Amino acid sequence: MKQFHDRPLDASALDQLFLQARSYNGWLDREVTEEQIRAIYDIAKMGPTSANMQPARLVWCRSAQAKERLAAHALDSNKDKVRTAPVCVIIGFDADFHEQLPWLFPHTDAKSWFEGDPDGRVEGARRNSALQGAYLMLAARALGLDCGPMSGVDLDGVTKEFFADEPAVRADWICSIGYGDPASVFDRSPRPGFGRFNRVA
Ligand SMILES: Cc1cc2nc3c(=O)[nH]c(=O)nc-3n(C[C@H](O)[C@H](O)[C@H](O)COP(=O)(O)O)c2cc1C
Repeated sequence: MKQFHDRPLDASALDQLFLQARSYNGWLDREVTEEQIRAIYDIAKMGPTSANMQPARLVWCRSAQAKERLAAHALDSNKDKVRTAPVCVIIGFDADFHEQLPWLFPHTDAKSWFEGDPDGRVEGARRNSALQGAYLMLAARALGLDCGPMSGVDLDGVTKEFFADEPAVRADWICSIGYGDPASVFDRSPRPGFGRFNRVA
């Protein structure tokens, strides 16, 4: 196991991941390949989740047809942000993720922690799939791509459209991925300074 203590990323990596990275509303006419999609996933999946539950269920809409099916459930203001993106990924979560724990967390009987607790499973699945979506955005940025996250969709509609055969899976948000058009970003909104929403106890 490699360790990275006292080896912070250099300024250009921080710019790419956080400081200069933006949320994009429009896309350059450059495709994103399935190999790139798989590379994003193979990085993002290494981020931590509770009991390694990995509850996110992802549908990467890359074909025009899949994007059109997804856009049909987006707010009007988001439809083109789905249609024109090279890829738009649906981040869903599986409330029955515990069925997978025997192989995902094999050193103990973690499945039993969640049996009989459907509300707790939804809470855990939602929290951890959101984390996985965040890892996914950072992985995409790390690979030189840009993101445009969106929650402005009819989630019931997206769930029925894409997860009809998986009754425990629910769509939660979507994220366009590609090469962002710099003309499409809004002015940067303010970020609170440390003193605003933090305290060190
Ligand atoms: C979970 C989530 C949902 C969002 N939903 C929408 C949306 O429905 N439509 C949209 O245009 N932008 C949406 N955004 C984009 C945010 O407004 C944007 O990320 C935020 O203002 C920060 O912008 P910046 O990264 O360019 O600084 C969403 C972002 C996130 C993380």
